Amino acid sequence: MGAAGKKRETWSGSFGFILAAVGSAVGLGNVWKFPYITGEHGGGAFVLVYLVCIALVGLPLLFAEMTLGRLSKKEPVGAFSSLASAARGGKWWGFFGWMSIVTAVLLLSFYSVVGGWTLGYLVKAVSGAFSPESAANSGEAFGEFIADPYQTLAFHTIFMGACIGVVIGGVSGGIERAAKVLMPIFAVLLLTLLGYSLTTDGAGQALNFMFYPDFSKLSAGAILEAVGHSFFTLSLGMGVMIVYGSYLKKESSIFKSGMMIALLDTAIALIAGVTIFGIVFSAGQEPGTGPGLVFVTLPSLFASLPMGSLWAALFFLLLGFAALTSGISILEVAVAYFVDERGIDRKKATLFFGGTIFAIGLLSVMSTNILADFKIPVPGKGPLTIFDTLDYFISNWALVLNGLGVAIYAGWAVDAKQLWGELKDDGLGRTGFAVWIFLMRFVAPVAIILILLHTLEWI
Ligand code: PHE
Ligand code: NA
Repeated sequence: MGAAGKKRETWSGSFGFILAAVGSAVGLGNVWKFPYITGEHGGGAFVLVYLVCIALVGLPLLFAEMTLGRLSKKEPVGAFSSLASAARGGKWWGFFGWMSIVTAVLLLSFYSVVGGWTLGYLVKAVSGAFSPESAANSGEAFGEFIADPYQTLAFHTIFMGACIGVVIGGVSGGIERAAKVLMPIFAVLLLTLLGYSLTTDGAGQALNFMFYPDFSKLSAGAILEAVGHSFFTLSLGMGVMIVYGSYLKKESSIFKSGMMIALLDTAIALIAGVTIFGIVFSAGQEPGTGPGLVFVTLPSLFASLPMGSLWAALFFLLLGFAALTSGISILEVAVAYFVDERGIDRKKATLFFGGTIFAIGLLSVMSTNILADFKIPVPGKGPLTIFDTLDYFISNWALVLNGLGVAIYAGWAVDAKQLWGELKDDGLGRTGFAVWIFLMRFVAPVAIILILLHTLEWI
């Protein structure tokens, strides 16, 4: 029973849940970030390390978040403060729940701005801006685009508006329904682009780059970036999978749906990588261009292709859809707290939080124009814009610290018998359960502590 005495919302079934959770997991992380970090770290060997991280750290934490959610039937603050006995910290663990909400609000404030850029590029593509003459100055074009406060504001507004519109509709009526429409379209677009990319003469080189490991290119930094990205890409460390798990019915298997989510997220990242590098190599370009890969390198290539505007439009539509289903899930974390714990009506909670996030996001909108010269002295990083500061703290600190909280809470503070009670019918088996507990108690915390020490430049 929710605080208002109404029955708590649920997904319509496992399928709806999986689509919504895959919608959350598949986002800018897969199509934008994964390809560019793979490019920077030299391809195959990095991909291999990333796959190991997903299996050993990401997947166990994904199960942990989903289980904490379904066991408590609560959003992160409730889930963290209700499952440990007083002797093992009791409701003090609620701190991590609060941290999830604050992180969610801040992450969405700039995720929405980048989501807005993809919409802006979609509009450019449709209006034929990617003409052969524009190919040479795609870098300048991107610079001009983000330097324009009006356009970036307009697209940030549209993106947040869309997230709010969906979340107001509720769990099965809004989030699940949006995922059921957007994700299949996403899949068709991605496979179409993959098909196109495989017909170019860069395909062989792309496959080779992604799947032939050259270990001489691997650095400690690359390994740690892979661990960090395994959190980001599975939407971990922010309470999303706790909230989504809390709407899951007992009949659904956490084990099977969790596997499916991780598998699809990984497959989609790999496909996006092959697709993008196929196009990049076919034009004889370099893979390691960093964050500009999607907004600068690709547009310049699209511009020189036959029917380039069409391919560009499909690509940015796909990226926009992926970002939207992730943005929705981040907003839901904050909204669920008010709905569950405060008994506030969903519509009011969504408008309030969506509005707040929109307003905070204005700082990131302005970070590439009006406030471009306003820099924050970040220890160890030097002066960063507000946008870059938020991105740095969230991707490098908040998600991983929260992930550490999840691992220790589920591994050590919550009674393992309670967890087994929740999972015993899920097809995981006793051995699988024991492996999971081991990974959560030892492997995940050690991996996370190593990342943090590296971030602090102590190792
Ligand atoms: N998983 C999303 C992506 O890959 C990002 C995300 C992170 C979404 C955390 C929700 C929570 O883009
Ligand atoms: Na992802």
